[in-house]
Amino acid sequence: MADARTPKGLFIETYGCQMNVYDSERMRDVLAPLGYAPVDKPDDADLVVLNTCHIREKATEKVYSEIGRLRAHKERRIAEGKGMTIAIAGCVAQAEGEEIIRRAPEVDLVVGPQAYHKLPELIARAARKTGERLAADFTAQEKFDALPARAPDGVTAFLSIQEGCDKFCTFCVVPYTRGAEYSRPLADVIAEARALADKGVREITLLGQNVNAYHGGASFADLLLALAQIEGIERLRYMTSHPVEMTDDLIALHGQEPKLMPFLHLPVQSGSDRVLKAMNRKHDGAFYRDIIERVRKVRPDVALSSDFIVGFPGEREQDFEDTMQLVRNIGFASAFSFKYSPRPGTPAAAMLAQIPDEVKTERLLRLQALLWEQQTAFNVAQVGRVLPILVTGDGRRAGQKHGRSPYLQSVHFNDTAAQNGDIVSVRIEAATQNSLSGARLARTPEVA
Ligand code: SAH
Ligand code: SF4
Ligand code: F3S
Repeated sequence: MADARTPKGLFIETYGCQMNVYDSERMRDVLAPLGYAPVDKPDDADLVVLNTCHIREKATEKVYSEIGRLRAHKERRIAEGKGMTIAIAGCVAQAEGEEIIRRAPEVDLVVGPQAYHKLPELIARAARKTGERLAADFTAQEKFDALPARAPDGVTAFLSIQEGCDKFCTFCVVPYTRGAEYSRPLADVIAEARALADKGVREITLLGQNVNAYHGGASFADLLLALAQIEGIERLRYMTSHPVEMTDDLIALHGQEPKLMPFLHLPVQSGSDRVLKAMNRKHDGAFYRDIIERVRKVRPDVALSSDFIVGFPGEREQDFEDTMQLVRNIGFASAFSFKYSPRPGTPAAAMLAQIPDEVKTERLLRLQALLWEQQTAFNVAQVGRVLPILVTGDGRRAGQKHGRSPYLQSVHFNDTAAQNGDIVSVRIEAATQNSLSGARLARTPEVA
């Protein structure tokens, strides 16, 4: 085993979704007892971990170019007699592990998302032999049980409660890279949330590829209710949710539970019923609009967010126009939008009517212009309001703090007294596309 007495540099680069952000933090936790501490650049690292994403072609290409860049750093360190272990983790490791080992001799080990608790052993083995690979033949439960206690470094934290996916949207690799849908047991989730609260965390975002499909011994709404009882936890959020899993009790909870923040990320992908069917999304546009209407009825100020794919195979101009119309009708506070990227092994990649890249680009630009306009309008609408801001750190300039609004906006405000974790009243004075700024008021928050 590696010697825990010698401090060692750890550099983790994270791509992809929040699941990977959570996993990177857990890898840091599992490596800390071996003496690994985070460093700012690969040149100072004894161990570099690339936590990769396979969702689109570009994301995958980035991994190989990053491995190429690391080669020079590794050679430099070897020349200095220091060495560097390169580990590839995440969804590309899971999907293309063998190819990475074949293509990239500088990579020492490849580890899939269910095997991070095995990292210490893998590193020790890689130190003896190059090109060791351990496939993810562990269940998620084994991983969660084997990971050490959390060591959060702020007042907000992710908590992964659900992994994998059984929905098989025809464009998506997640059911292949993350495996079958799995929910962590209720008691484990509550214990982890309590431990986070004890360490100063005030806001928890529950994570899963279909987080609202949670079924670990309680419904998702009941899990949120249980977490809201934990002393110290002031705010709860969740992502990513699937429209067909928006149950009546979950929608109702948005109007009942003040700790559940007025923000909902609910991917719709397309506004066209034809395209939604070809995507195997299991609902149509009317179903989505109905959910939004019901959430807005119980929580009128809810900020909405979504994911969109343009240029899915067979998407006609009219289908794209249906997406634009849905966006115009609903109005989003933020959104992610992507050109469709054919992924090996998925049904949509084999569909005949692939859309030319120029058409995808042109549609994406039109959609993003509309989404950005809506995002800016949503932010500007906060000017003049007093919002309860969770203080997360120091601001950009001296005399400023930084925090988060209930609507997940980033806020810089004038104040020096507030402590991280406080929730303070801030009058919003200005807004841009990406953030708000304002000044703290002396009184306590009036809005939950
Ligand atoms: N589980 C989530 C999505 C996870 S992937 C859900 O069902 O909503 C995050 C987003 O990436 C998806 O919502 C989708 O918009 C996008 N995406 C997934 N596969 C894609 C592909 N092949 N091409 C382009 N975008 C894709
Ligand atoms: Fe992918 Fe669909 Fe599962 Fe989301 S629900 S992870 S888009 S297959
Ligand atoms: Fe990417 Fe894997 Fe997340 S493919 S989006 S990192 S689940």
